[in-house]
Amino acid sequence: MSTTPAAPAVALNNGVEIPQLGFGVFQVPDDETTAAVTAALEAGYRSIDTAAIYGNETGVGRALAASGLPREELFVTTKLWNADQGYDSALRAFDDSLAKLGLDHVDLYLIHWPAPARDLYRDSWRALERLAGEGRVRAVGVSNFQPAHLRRLMDGTALTPAVNQVELHPGLQQTELRAFHAAHGIATEAWSPLAQGAVLGDPAVAAVASRYGKSPAQVVIRWHLQLGNVVIPKSVTPARIRENFDVFDFALTDEEMRAVAALDRGLRTGPHPDELD
Ligand SMILES: NC(=O)c1ccc[n+]([C@@H]2O[C@H](COP(=O)([O-])OP(=O)(O)OC[C@H]3O[C@@H](n4cnc5c(N)ncnc54)[C@H](OP(=O)(O)O)[C@@H]3O)[C@@H](O)[C@H]2O)c1
Repeated sequence: MSTTPAAPAVALNNGVEIPQLGFGVFQVPDDETTAAVTAALEAGYRSIDTAAIYGNETGVGRALAASGLPREELFVTTKLWNADQGYDSALRAFDDSLAKLGLDHVDLYLIHWPAPARDLYRDSWRALERLAGEGRVRAVGVSNFQPAHLRRLMDGTALTPAVNQVELHPGLQQTELRAFHAAHGIATEAWSPLAQGAVLGDPAVAAVASRYGKSPAQVVIRWHLQLGNVVIPKSVTPARIRENFDVFDFALTDEEMRAVAALDRGLRTGPHPDELD
């Protein structure tokens, strides 16, 4: 395994630590996932982000088992799909995810989308609180929740989400949501941190990259890390997997952070959270 420095840890609101830089496997077919996750673990990643709907929890589990890495060095996130929302169905879906991953607990379990038209996320959350109480998940959180969904979820429930994983990149900076998270002790986790490649051709990013002899993707990942985001870039390309982890030997100046921040333009690569059901 690699001698690359470990990603720094972010302490969640229950004291559990999540690596600030992890590896995402959205849109990776199950039979290609084992190779991608193996390459990531060899490059130094210890946090893997999957979801039931990605259909690749089995592939993730195979790579984790084959790595021989101690379970306590790994941080595994998976997510409850919309169709499984509700108290009993969430508990069943969690059992299914755990079996596919071949694990006896996950580190972080997220409600994947609020799916407000279903009006079940509060029931689902009570199931997640139960799983946390039983020690089958080390931390529970949500994904794609807007402030209104978070307020409703937190009203009268026992646990505050440890994480909200949302679309966030230089083209969509989620300033209001990040401020809400900071005020409530919720960690911000950025999905599509590279905007699926859409921000990598920008001249402002390229200018910073050439100054450090780094790639545009490395500059964008660095921007996330310096903002304090937990970040989970995806790649199936071994050289990019390594490149995206090689970001701990340079830092952007305040001026360079502002140059990247100037790219905010409401760019969404995924659906709006109020619309997906
Ligand atoms: N909670 C949610 O609703 C949600 C939604 C979407 C994503 N996510 C999570 O967030 C993770 C990341 O998001 P994402 O997969 O949508 O997009 P992303 O990480 O922003 O971008 C991935 C794309 O960028 C390319 N890429 C990666 N590194 C690169 C590099 N160094 N240079 C050039 N291109 C590079 C990849 O190509 P190759 O793979 O071909 O190398 C892929 O096409 C997902 O995998 C998933 O775990 C969560």
